[in-house]
Amino acid sequence: MASVTLLSYVEAADCPCTSYCRWYSVLLRTRYERGQIVEICWSERYARRTRRMAGSTIRELLKVTEQPGFISFAGGLPAPELFPVQEVAVVSQRILAESGPVALQYSATEGYRPLRACIAQRLQSDGVAAGIDNVLITTGSQQALDLVGKILVDPGDVVVVESPTYLAALQAWNAYEAEFVGVAADDCGMEVDGLEQVIERNPKMVYCQPNFQNPSGVTLSRERRVHLVELSRRHRVPVIEDDPYHELRFEGDCLPGLMALEASLDPARDPYDGNIISLGTFSKVLAPGLRVGWVVAAAPVITQLTLAKQGSDLHTSTLDQMIAHELLRSGFLEGHKRVIRQTYRERRDAMLEALADCFPPDTRWTRPAGGMFLWVELPASIDTADLLRRAMERRVAFVPGAAFHVDGTGHNTMRLNFSNSTPEQIRDGIARLAHELREMG
Ligand SMILES: Cc1ncc(COP(=O)(O)O)c(C=O)c1O
Repeated sequence: MASVTLLSYVEAADCPCTSYCRWYSVLLRTRYERGQIVEICWSERYARRTRRMAGSTIRELLKVTEQPGFISFAGGLPAPELFPVQEVAVVSQRILAESGPVALQYSATEGYRPLRACIAQRLQSDGVAAGIDNVLITTGSQQALDLVGKILVDPGDVVVVESPTYLAALQAWNAYEAEFVGVAADDCGMEVDGLEQVIERNPKMVYCQPNFQNPSGVTLSRERRVHLVELSRRHRVPVIEDDPYHELRFEGDCLPGLMALEASLDPARDPYDGNIISLGTFSKVLAPGLRVGWVVAAAPVITQLTLAKQGSDLHTSTLDQMIAHELLRSGFLEGHKRVIRQTYRERRDAMLEALADCFPPDTRWTRPAGGMFLWVELPASIDTADLLRRAMERRVAFVPGAAFHVDGTGHNTMRLNFSNSTPEQIRDGIARLAHELREMG
């Protein structure tokens, strides 16, 4: 039956779905069929969990900062001029010529076997008895975070995070209605003594980034790593070890990962069946557009994650997995990481120098030994959301720190990314921020 468009008054006090649809307010164009309203009020239909899905400040900022002339310390973007475009082109052509039908066919949810074997092998060299059944390839490590939430988090479950923490982990687990508890961090990472008190509340899991944390850039000390692993074992609480930056170390010695430490405390675990769920990615050392990441965990956890992934995307792009595998297998990645580390180190140094030259004396910042971010704490009187409004007018952006905290603190903090700007842009951008800070007095 043909529908008729009528004009009608609608009382829709609780309906935020369209700008037309307001209490006693406007004439609404409503479609009627056989005398019934047939338009759906979508906001009434959305699942309860969508109420907790807030947009990311960073993603919103990124839309604006893409404009030319903008200096952005806001995104977590790698340097695009370092992407191995040529190598990816050559390797893709070869894969398509030699194994095109395999690369383009549907394939196993667990991932491309040779890539899973390489990842297991890397862990074996760290003393973890990981086999291929301990590895699931994911569409970026962001998907791994989502899948972990999907299989572990029931509404109301307590999830312990570092304070500040990775915004998109909060986004992922908010959808599963987690209750977050933040544990303070200092220059040595999460204060694990504080965790000891929180762990009494029987959290579902603890989330930790051990190396060059996003957003603060700090690294968890060896003593705290050991303490964290011991707590996890004593209280049988899973630890989600999210470690996308560990290969971007500019200086100092590499520290053992949490999974490797756990294995060293209990070498009998063969195959690996411990409490750590470890996440990795090629996004920071190859290219985030490939969307290839992975999870390593006890085999039953991998089986459960695989079932969860089947409902999400069936499998990660096989072509992308084969490209990543080839660049890893051929040894290209090792040399490439050296170039990335060298470039990011220069950028970090430029930012540290610029901060020391221009920022007010009562400001503190971290000195990351790797990664892509550093963290600034301004005097308590400065609200970095206000600073951002002024900075955007001067065409420079950063992310205000409050969004990375689960307890409403951090209004005087901010995250600065150094990987995506040249040293000249960094000096210029920091000088612009310092100027605005002086104006705010
Ligand atoms: C701590 C952390 N985890 C996970 C991710 C997601 O990375 P990807 O999905 O590209 O592997 C990021 C990206 O910035 C990150 O900083």
